[in-house]
Amino acid sequence: MAELTGLRALVTGGSSGIGAAIARELAARGADLVLTARRKDALAQVAASCAGVRVDLVVADLGVEQGAEEVWAAAIAGGPIDLLINNAGFGAFRAFALTEPTRDAEMCQLNMTSLVELTKRFLAQDRPRGYIVNIASIGAYQSVPNMALYAASKAFVRNFTEGLHDELRGSNISATCICPGGTKTAFHAAAGAGDYSWLANASMMSAESVASIAVRAMLAKKRNVIPGLINKLSCFGVRLVPRRFASWFSARVLGKPKLVLPARKAAA
Ligand SMILES: NC(=O)c1ccc[n+]([C@@H]2O[C@H](COP(=O)([O-])OP(=O)(O)OC[C@H]3O[C@@H](n4cnc5c(N)ncnc54)[C@H](OP(=O)(O)O)[C@@H]3O)[C@@H](O)[C@H]2O)c1
Repeated sequence: MAELTGLRALVTGGSSGIGAAIARELAARGADLVLTARRKDALAQVAASCAGVRVDLVVADLGVEQGAEEVWAAAIAGGPIDLLINNAGFGAFRAFALTEPTRDAEMCQLNMTSLVELTKRFLAQDRPRGYIVNIASIGAYQSVPNMALYAASKAFVRNFTEGLHDELRGSNISATCICPGGTKTAFHAAAGAGDYSWLANASMMSAESVASIAVRAMLAKKRNVIPGLINKLSCFGVRLVPRRFASWFSARVLGKPKLVLPARKAAA
């Protein structure tokens, strides 16, 4: 019997990238899944790749108020949740003055508010054991010009999760923060990025590597894990330099933003 057999995991942003890879990793370890995102077809494709476990799909938008409530109600209709993977998120690679206010609000709702709401509901359950994984970013370690709101949202996720981890120490539930660096997913096209420096491109990891590290960190009940050596060095390095320099350097590593951001996706 696999180590997560009999447990049920809710994975937000399960339709692509890191969330899809985490779903497959959890399925391989025996966990039943509830995958949620806005795109039904993409969710169904991921579900088809998760063999040998039960997979429920919840098509919903976590970028709007009530989204978390809707997702949670649909998820627990099939039974309690033992693993909560708060992975859904997006960024905008553009000066803040040029982003659309509605997209800013959606980012705050998805990256922070819905994550907090799902975590609250998860903790209100009475379960013999439980794991929370919140996906932040190396952007949580410093300010990032042209991704200012995104980096701030991820600093929120990191601080929230580390505080929660410490509150839960000694209990049957753990909270783990994962701070990936650049990962080869649809994130970059959705953010309107594409002109990264050689360093940003050279340090890109696969979604599968990040997912495998995330699930192992979760099972080890780690507090915070940064996948990849270059990413670890970069996050350690920012402690040694003035914050202003770290911010300036991150803008050089990211390169110039493209002008056009893709339009918002609707639930299908
Ligand atoms: N890729 C990177 O370089 C990188 C680096 C650091 C951190 N991260 C973080 O990793 C997490 C996963 O991103 P990824 O790289 O795997 O990108 P991705 O492939 O674009 O996946 C994002 C996921 O979030 C879902 N999502 C987006 N908006 C949503 C909304 N309003 N409601 C519900 N679901 C929504 C998407 O599904 P639908 O479109 O079907 O809704 C998709 O499943 C994010 O939190 C991201 O910030 C990524």
